[in-house]
Amino acid sequence: MRHFLTTEDWDQNALQHVLDRAKALKAGASSAALAGKSVALVFFNPSLRTRSSFDIGIAQLGGHPVVLDARAGTWPMEMTEGAVMDGDAEEHVVEAARVLSRYVDMIAIRCFPKFQDWSVEREDPLISAFARHSSVPVVNMETIVHPCQELALMMTLQERLGRVENKTFLLTWVPHPRPLNTAVANSALLIASKFGMNVRMLIPDDVYRLDDRYMTAAEQACRVHGTKFEIMTDVEAAYTGAQAVYAKSWGALPFYGQWESEGHYREKGAGFMVDDAKMALTDDAIVSHCLPMRRNVKIADSVVDSPAFLGIEEAENRLHVQKAMMEALSREQDARG
Ligand code: CP
Repeated sequence: MRHFLTTEDWDQNALQHVLDRAKALKAGASSAALAGKSVALVFFNPSLRTRSSFDIGIAQLGGHPVVLDARAGTWPMEMTEGAVMDGDAEEHVVEAARVLSRYVDMIAIRCFPKFQDWSVEREDPLISAFARHSSVPVVNMETIVHPCQELALMMTLQERLGRVENKTFLLTWVPHPRPLNTAVANSALLIASKFGMNVRMLIPDDVYRLDDRYMTAAEQACRVHGTKFEIMTDVEAAYTGAQAVYAKSWGALPFYGQWESEGHYREKGAGFMVDDAKMALTDDAIVSHCLPMRRNVKIADSVVDSPAFLGIEEAENRLHVQKAMMEALSREQDARG
């Protein structure tokens, strides 16, 4: 069965097909791909965009969304197979996945890492278990990657830049008062490299390198496309000539869950906010962010409120790409019978 857990499992052509359909849906095409069907949206973490865009998108496709707030409205869930469930968890993910599969036609899950043990959390245990035990397609609404955000980002880049191949994409670490999940940063590397862009990653220090899985995937994709993958600490060099700037903050993996020791390195990035002076170095670049975003910490007001900022467009495109992805998964499932 086809799931949408990570874009690593999908080739560029298949993703482009989804993007082309998303553009048609945005232009007014209608679809009843989910007529008579239900989709469970299971949230272990807060959301504004993901929750509303999935809920509305499912309704627009003729389907019925079932929103479950796993923090308050469902049983605490165990995700480890073979666990002796004598702690807080009342429900095992195995039963949750099997039961929801009897009710709904697709299951979408948001479950951020808990910042406890990256060696465990890098395996994405909850959504992986859902995918193993579900008999309907599973969609990732953000775990250790954020593939729906990737599609929205790429749709937005294509709308504004046209062909993105060989254009220069800068993923810049930006300040934030506390360490955040690496999901969107991992995803930005995956999608920009997969679609043939030159990829630069600007970080204050090597401790902000992302997990090898994503760095290696980006390196390999760039090698296949004949593009460059560069890890940079020089702000001026990184911005110079960039055509797209993507801002994101994340916690340094060597200090995972022990953030008090990260402070020194975080201070090295104190000047990394996206501002007019840095944007002036670019090749008239567009700039975006997945949102939510702290203004004047991550990106200066003057940049956010300029025509170069595409964060709102990218957020709108979440709706269209998710509809196109759900349509594709649903049709594939129907074809299987
Ligand atoms: N970008 C994004 O996923 O937004 P929410 O966290 O509000 O869903």
